[in-house]
Amino acid sequence: MWPILIDEGQIEQALVNLAVNARDAMPGGGTLTVTTSNQNLDDLAGYDPPVPPGRYVCLQVADTGTGIPKEVLERVFEPFFTTKPSGEGTGLGLATVYGAISQADGHVRIASEDNVGTVVTALLPATDQTPQPAAAVLPCDRTSQQGTILVVEDEDGILEVARRLLTRNGYQVITAATGTEALEKARWHDGPIDLLLADVVMPHMLGTEVAATVRALRPDIHVLYMSGYAQPVLSSHGTLEPGIRLIEKPFTEPDLLNPIREIFAPEQSAGGFPDRPT
Ligand SMILES: Nc1ncnc2c1ncn2[C@@H]1O[C@H](COP(=O)(O)OP(=O)(O)OP(=O)(O)O)[C@@H](O)[C@H]1O
Ligand SMILES: [Mg+2]
Repeated sequence: MWPILIDEGQIEQALVNLAVNARDAMPGGGTLTVTTSNQNLDDLAGYDPPVPPGRYVCLQVADTGTGIPKEVLERVFEPFFTTKPSGEGTGLGLATVYGAISQADGHVRIASEDNVGTVVTALLPATDQTPQPAAAVLPCDRTSQQGTILVVEDEDGILEVARRLLTRNGYQVITAATGTEALEKARWHDGPIDLLLADVVMPHMLGTEVAATVRALRPDIHVLYMSGYAQPVLSSHGTLEPGIRLIEKPFTEPDLLNPIREIFAPEQSAGGFPDRPT
């Protein structure tokens, strides 16, 4: 493939959000196809609306699902637009995709047909820059850490991964699958809780609301957020304050642990990682 310039975390989030949408559109099963190709587009490229001519890397995510009715198709990129029942969709998936691709000067198009399926096409401009070899992955130092972390996350799989990664690095972990459960545990846990690690977008209670209530109970607690949606999307709608950094889902072990270490030992790490509203 031609090289492109894009934030690695953001393209990952975009791909995951597209795959999750495809899954949701195929409740009875189907085929999810992800393809990449180089495209030299001329003026006649058949995209609607048209895409400026140029060299693009094309990423396509296609499903054989329900398709999207025309009146819905016009609104799919709107933040918080969802046709899913309350508690299932927040309507930030495609807004996150749109944000990620636009920031890389790319274009997103959706084609859909009822009961045939949907194809999302992301066109990312090729760059003339020579790619640098990937930065060496930071070794994850597994020296045992100390501290108690309350993790609130509504997706079982992610809650379990976070619990495992934190436990094997020495932290005490308290888990909660809902905001209400997190508040109960924050209230009744016997002993200190050093950090609240909260998913931002959860049904019934946002991570920020959980944090505000937990802080009222335990004023010294640190707070870190994680989300599968991009920071600009969340902050432009008041869901998260702009200055607050975010652990992007999906995350690797160092993605999760480094910001936590910075909070527990700020003097040892360069660069601030603000976890409190400024
Ligand atoms: N592949 C698809 N097939 C059918 N409909 C889709 C597809 N992708 C998106 N949609 C429609 O677009 C709407 C908005 O999608 P978007 O990803 O922004 O939000 P969501 O999936 O509803 O919620 P979230 O992604 O925040 O969990 C969906 O509710 C659905 O109606
Ligand atoms: Mg979605």
